Amino acid sequence: MYLGLDLGTSGVKAMLMDGDQRIVGSASGALDVSRPHPGWSEQDPAAWIRATEEAISGLKAAHPSALAAVRGIGLSGQMHGATLLDADDKVLRPCILWNDTRSFREAAALDAEPQFRAITGNIVFPGFTAPKLAWVRENEPDLFAKVRWVLLPKDYLRLWLTGEHMSEMSDSAGTAWLDTAKRRWSESLLSATGMEERQMPDLVEGTDRAGGLRPELASRWGMDAGVVVAGGAGDNAASACGMGTVGEGHAFVSLGTSGVLFAANASYLPNPESAVHAFCHALPNTWHQMGVILSATDALNWYSGIAGRSAADLSTELGDTLKAPSGVTFLPYLSGERTPHNDATIRGAFAGLGHESSRVVLTQAVMEGVSFAIRDSLEALRAAGTTLSRVTAIGGGSRSRYWLKSIATALDLPVDLPADGDFGAAFGAARLGLIAATGADPVAICHAPKTAETIAPEAAFVAAYDEAYQSYRRLYPAIKGATT
Ligand code: XUL
Repeated sequence: MYLGLDLGTSGVKAMLMDGDQRIVGSASGALDVSRPHPGWSEQDPAAWIRATEEAISGLKAAHPSALAAVRGIGLSGQMHGATLLDADDKVLRPCILWNDTRSFREAAALDAEPQFRAITGNIVFPGFTAPKLAWVRENEPDLFAKVRWVLLPKDYLRLWLTGEHMSEMSDSAGTAWLDTAKRRWSESLLSATGMEERQMPDLVEGTDRAGGLRPELASRWGMDAGVVVAGGAGDNAASACGMGTVGEGHAFVSLGTSGVLFAANASYLPNPESAVHAFCHALPNTWHQMGVILSATDALNWYSGIAGRSAADLSTELGDTLKAPSGVTFLPYLSGERTPHNDATIRGAFAGLGHESSRVVLTQAVMEGVSFAIRDSLEALRAAGTTLSRVTAIGGGSRSRYWLKSIATALDLPVDLPADGDFGAAFGAARLGLIAATGADPVAICHAPKTAETIAPEAAFVAAYDEAYQSYRRLYPAIKGATT
């Protein structure tokens, strides 16, 4: 039996998988995000532990004897967060999350130093970890002086699980301190933010062992002490392991809090100019590219709060039959945007509103806006030399048929839906736990699930969608010009 733990933004999910990769069960614990100022996004790491305990208790209650059979644990987590610890491993401040854009000035200053793009292969986005530390150094100098360790969220969970300060390549590639081609920390990038390599965890591959379960937790959960904890992965690379997106030409679109268009690459293919992320994959000697939009289901959830209806109700009200774009255009830049604009200060908009713009029209516009943002990522990947012929859909938003049809039509690509099952980040993490515990071949384990169904682009609407996408493209510079 293997356990996958995915520390997401809205909750922790624990999934049990047997040695034949059958899902035995899953449970979760919820998390909130605190937004004390515009552009800020924080979580208390203690809440991650509470949510993990809750998820594991849920699994234990549903499958009382299964936990005793766990041989390996894999971790996945929201990327980029800065968890700052003192010399006693005490948390110094709330974790600054991936969608927090307060450090946009520091990010621009680091990005202007040519070594950052040259060594990491990426723009220094405000969401990445290094500019957050530059912000803390400038704004909270006393606290900065106490920082002994900087850990990514899932690596803080690992510290609690195992007592070890360790990380792996895929998540570490999102710090802006990693030499992405050489898969090791860059002393020179760290020192550009007043940091030293001794403040960073040791690195392993995602498929390697990175600690053993502490006896105290093992006895509480009825597991063996020392159960292998794998390096694991950032949540996108973990999802890719779950979806079998590990070989050249494979791609997925993820509709979670953020939206991601992810392509696996056999080699390291950076192209920061198109605002594409080029990161290490969780498997040794593999890399990946992705376009990232900051608000996907987050945009629908925001609108659901305004409309006073749940996102599921809004989706039901819209129905499953794709409509031509209504003329209302939504820009989903609620927390700024990464791909393709790298703009922390831009904010969202509805354009083209009329008396006829009902709640349902706005739901449609929100989904279309996210689809167009994903199309922007497709164009960015194209500019980075990656051509996709189809994508597989994952994440909470992929439960909406309308959204899937809209994405297929906006991208003009077939969208595959995996056969029944949950092949997301927690499953990918469980696979990494299996590989680390047994030494099994990573590529053989990380195979793709069967495709249950393919959603084809709706030919009758492809041209109208393309036209609406061009209007969407024109709005960003217009809004930018009008609001700055
Ligand atoms: C990726 C990113 C998000 C988070 C969400 O660069 O910031 O996808 O990993 O959890």
